[in-house]
Amino acid sequence: MRHLLSINDLSKEEAIELLNLAVEMQQVNLREIKKLPALNGRTVANLFFEDSTRTRISFELAAKRLSADVINFSAKGSSVSKGESLKDTVQTLEAMGVEALIVRHNLSGAVNTIANSTWSNAAVINAGDGTHEHPTQALLDALTLRQRVLGNSSIGDISGLRVLIVGDILHSRVARSNLLLLRKLGAIVSVSGPATLLPESINNLCDEVFYDLDEALDRRFDAVMMLRIQAERMNSAFMPNPAEYAFGWGLGDTRFNRLQSSTVVMHPGPMNRGLEISSSAADSKQSVILEQVTNGVAMRMAVLYKVLAQEKKND
Ligand code: CP
Repeated sequence: MRHLLSINDLSKEEAIELLNLAVEMQQVNLREIKKLPALNGRTVANLFFEDSTRTRISFELAAKRLSADVINFSAKGSSVSKGESLKDTVQTLEAMGVEALIVRHNLSGAVNTIANSTWSNAAVINAGDGTHEHPTQALLDALTLRQRVLGNSSIGDISGLRVLIVGDILHSRVARSNLLLLRKLGAIVSVSGPATLLPESINNLCDEVFYDLDEALDRRFDAVMMLRIQAERMNSAFMPNPAEYAFGWGLGDTRFNRLQSSTVVMHPGPMNRGLEISSSAADSKQSVILEQVTNGVAMRMAVLYKVLAQEKKND
């Protein structure tokens, strides 16, 4: 695996291999000394043109746990504010010996631009590009789902699990990557959201569309994944006011109490509590939101190992 730009870069077998590798990384993260020498002497850069808490910090921790040297670059406070281009920024980092770029960008396709360019030799990992994809989020979500719903013994097979993704599908790179990955792994994925926040091609992307969330919740789901309203990517025409959105599409207390006790509640974060999810749902025993965060470190260790350590061996 040279780059990880999209879930489409992975076959089903490669995705399962990454999930299984992440389980091994979880064991490392439970040790007193949480460190492997795998990337000793290698240098990776977190190249973030958009804000992040979970993804940036977990990639940093993942790289450090594999003994890599890590550079954290944030566009805010850098020479990007003086007009330096993406190409010059990337070349500057590579001139200092960076071998892998973990890139978050507000423009869909910015990661492909770097990976396909003649001016970069680094391995590129997509840490979220515009409304396009967030593949490592989908991988950590699949890992969380597999372990919480099936237990550790059921390695590899989430086929037949039923997942409902709710909210702003149109602007969500998390939804897009999850739809691709969960369906690749055989899960049955439904979506529910206001018509204005569903892509035109939604019927080709999922197994079932519910325009009414309460009708969807008459069914049984193994997981309900609530999405953040991506206010920064839309104008007011896309959605009703916040109170109406919460009434129609939020996982408030009444809807949460309708879920089966075995249904897990997921959210990629950051959450808008009271808008797309209530605090009692987010903080409940059924919530796996913090497990998703914990699993992000192991999953990103697996991706970095695959991209940098294993590819080197295969050269
Ligand atoms: N889920 C996610 O991408 O969160 P951050 O924006 O905090 O990285």
